Amino acid sequence: MTQGPLTTEAGAPVADNQNSETAGVGGPVLVQDQLLLEKLAHFNRERIPERVVHARGAAAYGTFTLTRDVSRWTRAAFLSEVGKQTETFLRFSTVAGNLGSADAVRDPRGWALKFYTEDGNYDLVGNNTPVFFVKDAIKFPDFIHTQKRDPYTGSQEADNVWDFWGLSPESTHQVTWLFGDRGIPASYRHMNGYGSHTYQWNNEAGEAFWVKYHFKTDQGIRNLTTEEAVKVSGLDPDSHQRDLRESIERGDFPCWTVQVQIMPVADAAGYRFNPFDLTKVWPHEDYPPIEIGRLELNRNPDNVFAEVEQSIFSPANFVPGIGPSPDKMLQGRLFAYGDAHRYRVGINAADLPVNRPHAAEARTNSRDGFLYDGRHKGAKNYEPNSFGGPVQTDRPLWQSTPVTGATGNHEAPSHAEDNDFVQAGNLYRLMSEGEKERLVDNLAGFIAKVSRDDIAERAIGNFRQADGDFGKRLEAAVQELRG
Ligand code: HEM
Repeated sequence: MTQGPLTTEAGAPVADNQNSETAGVGGPVLVQDQLLLEKLAHFNRERIPERVVHARGAAAYGTFTLTRDVSRWTRAAFLSEVGKQTETFLRFSTVAGNLGSADAVRDPRGWALKFYTEDGNYDLVGNNTPVFFVKDAIKFPDFIHTQKRDPYTGSQEADNVWDFWGLSPESTHQVTWLFGDRGIPASYRHMNGYGSHTYQWNNEAGEAFWVKYHFKTDQGIRNLTTEEAVKVSGLDPDSHQRDLRESIERGDFPCWTVQVQIMPVADAAGYRFNPFDLTKVWPHEDYPPIEIGRLELNRNPDNVFAEVEQSIFSPANFVPGIGPSPDKMLQGRLFAYGDAHRYRVGINAADLPVNRPHAAEARTNSRDGFLYDGRHKGAKNYEPNSFGGPVQTDRPLWQSTPVTGATGNHEAPSHAEDNDFVQAGNLYRLMSEGEKERLVDNLAGFIAKVSRDDIAERAIGNFRQADGDFGKRLEAAVQELRG
């Protein structure tokens, strides 16, 4: 802001910002006190709806550098040349808590990454976990209702959480992950990020590949135990947000090594797992991760509301050379985010400085609506036109996917080794004895709060199916706590 007198929103100088105007000394306040009315009215409108999930978060700008030639798999311009750099914006978040909730809680962390590319913004909206709780978007609102506040008590309820998870065996893998050591990262810097879904890459020759993204923290994985997290949450609810900002302020820029797993499209139909099932990983022995780049965060936002609260990310924002897969969760998300943004930030949300393309220009015929800034001036707002307006390219961003069969409420196709427990069991068996103990304790502490035996028993049953020892230990631990 420049120097000069305090003004009203219309720019008129303010004479007194301490005393509102009254009819005489001690008399009632006058409506002609424009400054008072303006201040109170603006204050009343300072909040916009918080995100329905991932409300609590922090973000920073950064740079993505490509370190490997990936042109045989994708024609994405920002991935075209080794050494090429692209500006990014990364928002981290927790999922279930409200805007003012504590950072150090057991919850997945959001990993919403915007690449400002020369072909427009590419958003990769993932988590710090490679898998998710459910595999069809139609289940997402029900799932989130069980994580959020109960309509009667106004609090998160163990009954709701475990009722849903127990009745949704596909959640067993992600729940095992969440209650393990990585369920409470020590900071946003000390955790990995994942694209989670399978996406499509396609090259200049028109060949398509299925791809999964991994961002491996160069700071090393660091976590909090449940006891440590309780303390940190109480002492410093903003712990992760503060850690991120301060590390960037002191020039200690956090970095991640970027890897991809690539599956030729011809492998997908016969792969041992459904490669589009978000509750499963692709084991590294099947598709080894390939290092392709480095992500560094190096600039804090100047204004949290403008750049973090109003930032928007959509899994539907692709660029040429990258596209969706048939993952039923991803397909639902292609709708959900744009819709959320129009409600939460408004129809011109994509024009805000943090959201608009930085290395390209948005040339659309969409106009007007609340807070339209008139950037198109007098340009024609229809297409085709004879006035040199923007024209279509005739080249889709991604390759088409063959489909067969009749419409219907189908489950995704089943593959030879698909079941809801195999990867959860593998994860458990990979853990050290200490990790297993903490996992069982964390789960038991929460399941013990469930009020109904049948709900608790069904939830335990899923872990028993993942691994007999896991189930046995969990059952004993819950029994001990319930007395
Ligand atoms: C079909 C399932 C899902 C639906 C319908 C859904 C919907 C939403 C909505 C409505 C928001 C708030 C957006 C906003 O107001 O700006 C959101 C935020 C978010 N979701 Fe999802 N979500 C789903 C699954 C997932 C999955 C599987 C992941 C990760 C793998 C994920 C990661 C995120 C992240 C990181 C954010 C925060 C974005 C930000 O920082 O602004 N979501 N989701």
